[in-house]
Amino acid sequence: MMALGRAFAIVFCLIQAVSGESGNAQDGDLEDADADDHSFWCHSQLEVDGSQHLLTCAFNDSDINTANLEFQICGALLRVKCLTLNKLQDIYFIKTSEFLLIGSSNICVKLGQKNLTCKNMAINTIVKAEAPSDLKVVYRKEANDFLVTFNAPHLKKKYLKKVKHDVAYRPARGESNWTHVSLFHTRTTIPQRKLRPKAMYEIKVRSIPHNDYFKGFWSEWSPSSTFETPEPKNQGGWDPVLPSVTILSLFSAFLLVILAHVLWKKRIKPVVWPSLPDHKKTLEQL
Ligand SMILES: *[C@@H]1O[C@H](CO)[C@@H](O)[C@H](O)[C@H]1NC(C)=O
Ligand SMILES: *[C@@H]1O[C@H](CO)[C@@H](O)[C@H](O)[C@H]1NC(C)=O
Ligand SMILES: *[C@@H]1O[C@H](CO)[C@@H](O)[C@H](O)[C@H]1NC(C)=O
Repeated sequence: MMALGRAFAIVFCLIQAVSGESGNAQDGDLEDADADDHSFWCHSQLEVDGSQHLLTCAFNDSDINTANLEFQICGALLRVKCLTLNKLQDIYFIKTSEFLLIGSSNICVKLGQKNLTCKNMAINTIVKAEAPSDLKVVYRKEANDFLVTFNAPHLKKKYLKKVKHDVAYRPARGESNWTHVSLFHTRTTIPQRKLRPKAMYEIKVRSIPHNDYFKGFWSEWSPSSTFETPEPKNQGGWDPVLPSVTILSLFSAFLLVILAHVLWKKRIKPVVWPSLPDHKKTLEQL
């Protein structure tokens, strides 16, 4: 019985020793790093500075300890095999004109010489559009609409010219949902009848690559603009359409009467009421 108890005790101690050991290994840092989820995202921005492109990457998990971690991109580069990204707080980036923009690159998270995780990405398919700017809204009284114009940085670029825009607006107060309008030009109109009268509206716009070759993500939203809708025109139920219709129909009726009168004398009367031959006159002639 004693021997059995001792055997159990020894086994128990062994198990403890083994499980304890894995916790205080000398290369614990490396193992911790392995255990972390190093999933990351990257996006590119083309021609941000002359012919230079920008690649930005970051970890999905913002709590990750990035102290010794590096990002490296290899392949599909012009004059070099690999480039290491710069680090600014938790964001990794590189501005370069070395991207070939053809074929895909390997983007790896490195701890020392070791690749922790790699992703195969093509720079031309992870393009984040640049946010539009100068969003302006002008009320056009005659047209009963609002003319919306903005500036898209892509218009001046060589590679990614075709982008789709998403204009969103809503009343500034309250919790209304945004109304979205998709467009490919940098101007559009919002009919006044689609908006509440005498209300302040908030409006913003963003863009996404719309191209067979360059694909990717929505830009940030442009800074919001505001505009105010005018007071309702037909106050007190006075409708400017109704009186004009009345005047118009009265005028047409008047015209019809005159026309009928003229025609009656010249055309219709002779037909429906032909002048009978004067018997007396005819007889006299004989
Ligand atoms: C990481 O974040 C990106 C962008 O926010 C997302 O598309 C991707 O699915 C995320 N990946 C994981 C594994 O959570
Ligand atoms: C890490 O990944 C890069 C890019 O794929 C590769 O060139 C390099 O050989 C890898 N390094 C190691 C140590 O596996
Ligand atoms: C806004 O949209 C959500 C989801 O589509 C919907 O549940 C909600 O009722 C909408 N709110 C308004 C004020 O229309």
